[in-house]
Amino acid sequence: MTVKTILTEPNKILRQVSLPVEKVGNEERQLMDDMLETMYEAKGIGLAAIQIGVPKRIIVMDLSKEEGKKEPRYFVNPIIKNKSEKISTYEEGCLSVVSVFAEVDRPSTCEVEYLDYNGDKKILKASGLLATCIQHEMDHLEGILFIDYLSKLKKSMIIKKLSKLKNKEDRVVL
Ligand code: NI
Repeated sequence: MTVKTILTEPNKILRQVSLPVEKVGNEERQLMDDMLETMYEAKGIGLAAIQIGVPKRIIVMDLSKEEGKKEPRYFVNPIIKNKSEKISTYEEGCLSVVSVFAEVDRPSTCEVEYLDYNGDKKILKASGLLATCIQHEMDHLEGILFIDYLSKLKKSMIIKKLSKLKNKEDRVVL
């Protein structure tokens, strides 16, 4: 397993629409292993393949709370079959949007069809944080970030701030 670099906003790659996976093979499993390792290293709870620059419809997540007890989840080609009209609001952050947190409204529950790590078809009824996390990660597959749900003004202020931070990162001091 290899820890990969997580792309951060602003970055055009993050805005790409990811492509469906034809078959879950060894290459995809290797990618999922790397994604999980990268997510754990960054202390995140979810990661989409595009966040490490791979435009495939693959997501990994782990919402386990207990230290040392891992509960990885893998979603390949996820599709939302149903979602509730009832809305939940969570304060969201994202490994690709450094140091920004904002409240986002999303359907409270959703039913997702997907392929698992072995390529088997599964259906999951998600609620609570799990439902929010799946929807956040699935947005990545469409090139959408949670800051896109904020007002234009708020979003442009955030992007300005992120661009400044990024320029500082690129500086080399000798
Ligand atoms: Ni994210």
